[in-house]
Amino acid sequence: MEVVICSHPDHIGPIAADYVESLISTKPAAVLGVATGSSPLGLYEELGKRVAAGKLSLSRARAFMLDEYVGLPADHPERYRTFIERHFVEPTDIPSTSVFGPDGAAEDMEAACAAYEEAIHKAGGIDLQILGVGTDGHIAFNEPGSSLASRTRLKSLMEQTRKDNARFFDDDIDQVPHHCVTQGVGTILEARHLVLLASGKGKAEAIKGVVEGPVSAVCTGSALQLHPTATVIIDEEAASLLTYASYYRFAYENKPEWQRV
Ligand code: GLP
Repeated sequence: MEVVICSHPDHIGPIAADYVESLISTKPAAVLGVATGSSPLGLYEELGKRVAAGKLSLSRARAFMLDEYVGLPADHPERYRTFIERHFVEPTDIPSTSVFGPDGAAEDMEAACAAYEEAIHKAGGIDLQILGVGTDGHIAFNEPGSSLASRTRLKSLMEQTRKDNARFFDDDIDQVPHHCVTQGVGTILEARHLVLLASGKGKAEAIKGVVEGPVSAVCTGSALQLHPTATVIIDEEAASLLTYASYYRFAYENKPEWQRV
């Protein structure tokens, strides 16, 4: 796992954007995996800037979302599809029709989840998956106890996750749905490159679990340790509990030229 520790949280977005830009330069029709939450906002903003500057085009790219709430009306501003439209589609030139997400309103959820897995497969799989991490170490909405081999499915949300996300729902936990549909850990692990972003003290425990903790269903982000190409881009605060932080810094700063993006 490559751990990139940034001296300022504002550096996370541009560094992550370099990975996306590098992929698109060799594969303009790449398949991206996009995440919601506050962690990828700096990345999406930076991608928007690069598109506006003519340095990057996502016009031929496609994207698949990680997860979606169940039970929010189609026009709800906090539906993840709406979030991705607002923060990723609008600032870049990716066509809205090239962005896909799990159907949180499907009548036959099992069939819809299987169809979503099939759509990712048919697109050739995900080249680069952007991830955030929950305070309990979850990736997408794979809460503690999720099988590390899980696929896209319906999940119940933990009280802590609903509390964390209440800030997007007028600070009212009662408005936060109890259920979601999420890519499984097994689905996520099939992406060719995983790029996880996190900042702040509140994420330090989760990052410790992701990078140095035992691989465990209790912290589904720790499954990144099983992936051959995972990059974790964090700030000093999120890195504050890492035992080997100085080694990760050294390894990143002394990365051979041919591995740099
Ligand atoms: C939600 C999303 C996750 C995201 C997490 C962290 O639970 N389903 O994909 O990683 O929030 O969000 P934030 O980046 O706002 O801390």
